[in-house]
Amino acid sequence: MKRTNYAGLIDEQYENQTVTLDGWVQKRRDLGGLIFIDLRDREGLVQLAFSDEISKDALAVAETVRSEYVIEVEGVVKRRAEGAINENLHSGKIEVQVSHIEVLAEAKTTPFLIEDGVDASDETRLKYRYLDLRRPEMQKNLRIRSKITAATHEFLDAAGFIDIETPYLAKSTPEGARDYLVPSRIYPGAFYALPQSPQLFKQLLMGAGFDRYYQVARAFRDEDLRGDRQPEFTQLDLETSFMNQEEIRELVGQWVAAVMKKTVDYDLNPEDIPVLTWEESMRRFGTDKPDMRFGMELQDLSELMADSEFGVFAKAIENGGMVKAIVVPGGADHYSRKEIDKLAQYVERFGAKGLAWLKVADGSVTGSIAKFLTEKSDALLQATGAKDGDLILFAADQENVVNPTLDALRRMTAEAMDLVDNSKWAFAWIIDWPLFEYQPEEDRWIAAHHPFTMPNEEDLPLMATTEGAHKAHAQSYDLVLNGYELGSGSIRIHRMDIQKQMLSALGFTPESADEAFGFLLEGMEYGFPPMGGIALGLDRLAMLLAGRDNIRDVIAFPKNSKATEPMTDAPTLVSKQQVEGDLGLTAPDYAHNDAPNLAEE
Ligand code: AMO
Ligand code: AMP
Repeated sequence: MKRTNYAGLIDEQYENQTVTLDGWVQKRRDLGGLIFIDLRDREGLVQLAFSDEISKDALAVAETVRSEYVIEVEGVVKRRAEGAINENLHSGKIEVQVSHIEVLAEAKTTPFLIEDGVDASDETRLKYRYLDLRRPEMQKNLRIRSKITAATHEFLDAAGFIDIETPYLAKSTPEGARDYLVPSRIYPGAFYALPQSPQLFKQLLMGAGFDRYYQVARAFRDEDLRGDRQPEFTQLDLETSFMNQEEIRELVGQWVAAVMKKTVDYDLNPEDIPVLTWEESMRRFGTDKPDMRFGMELQDLSELMADSEFGVFAKAIENGGMVKAIVVPGGADHYSRKEIDKLAQYVERFGAKGLAWLKVADGSVTGSIAKFLTEKSDALLQATGAKDGDLILFAADQENVVNPTLDALRRMTAEAMDLVDNSKWAFAWIIDWPLFEYQPEEDRWIAAHHPFTMPNEEDLPLMATTEGAHKAHAQSYDLVLNGYELGSGSIRIHRMDIQKQMLSALGFTPESADEAFGFLLEGMEYGFPPMGGIALGLDRLAMLLAGRDNIRDVIAFPKNSKATEPMTDAPTLVSKQQVEGDLGLTAPDYAHNDAPNLAEE
């Protein structure tokens, strides 16, 4: 026998044809003398029928099979009786009457059912990932991802991009996150670093004259994990020469439109993607990755509240801060005092010292601060547009507390009130970022994007001093989708003098800059073209297109939230021989072959 078709693709077109199918037993129903088996392969299910009349031998074998056995069958496609039709199944109008069956592999009882919406824990799903991946929704997720990369190769090849691989065993360079290090056997004590991105290599490729480079590349960052962050992830990385940022954004818009069409059949006009400056995004949404599927924008009430009787508001403004608010449409009934207290407690993590609120009813306001606002109530309703039944939430503090607080409240309350239209694809470009970002925890300034980002033309004079550079804006741009940062890019510095100013403003001495990036700086002296590019997080795009909220669901073998891989147990301890004999490093005492499982410790 040799497979003739995918089980899930058989339908009434094949009526009366003999087919041979291979797959897994989803379910077996024994009606005594009549057995039905749902056979599953990557394309779906088909019902197999076994009976005395069709084949005694096949029926006898069918009695022995269990869920997840791998079988091969031959039979004739027949229409089902009227009452037995299953409209939800592609193959629901037919069944295959099996004359011959062979068991190719038996299977133990699986730790969870192979079906969508399993209730197994994430840990169990990851430990038995090959079983988890048998489930139709996971098959669908990985196929969406494959469609994205296929559409990407097709689009970029047609646009004249050249696919070039760059090293995974690379030099450790101070970029952003911690490096994953790989010890060198030949040079004990020396390390390669797995790249946090191909950034420097792609700039060197522009220096080499390739003009348009791309790569679907793995990047590695040892940072705290979240739903949209894995220690290794995939970027669509690209770089171009002689293009300005508008041209690059247009090209990336066309790429994403091609991907949207081929994966979810959505028509995106790249010209319709709104372009917001970073400042506008922060002002209107309190974040640099706004979810624009819904409104509820932040309203600045600082002017109105400057002379407020409510001391908290007046004082915040006096201290150089601000008062901003969001209106939750219809939120008055939905949010009890207790629920609002929970929100207040939640936003403490952003430094919020309270959460003032008002409910609107009969054209006036009630709530925690209503008594202070009697005179301003009309002006407030006017300014915010709040209507009867709405809830207004206020934050009063410095900008770096107010914005994240209201951003979180905006997203949480919109979700809770069912105001997010999940059928929408809300893209946005965020441009004109600050060149530098202050890190209060470390009391230092870091590059907001990376150290190779070109300042805005008009800010070049600022670069002469460190204080000036910290005020400059950058020729950088982020692509945002439904509140997620999909990609980040910039025009690069191709002039040595500006690059040196940038590194000096970051705190590098000429010597430490040379040690870290000397190869790039030297390259720049041999005629580097103006260049710019972007890297897009393919896992995040696949996650959103698959309708999931964790990139684990679109990665075949991801790490869990503790950065371990429960199926293989990586990372594992290795033998003393590997560490000391081969690498010349000192192994901790526990580094031996039968080391305990790290994840369980
Ligand atoms: P950046 O560091 O912003 O830029 O990364 C680009 C995009 O990669 C995705 N991403 C991640 N996805 C999953 N897990 C992670 N840990 C993770 N970290 C980042 C995001 C992000 O927008 N070299 C520059 C790009 C350039 O300038 O061309 C870079 O790597 O979607
Ligand atoms: P209080 O005067 O402390 O009773 O606060 C009155 C209301 O203002 C309460 O609902 C507090 O949660 C809220 N509140 C206090 N501080 C702030 C702040 N910085 N921003 C917004 N609301 C606040």
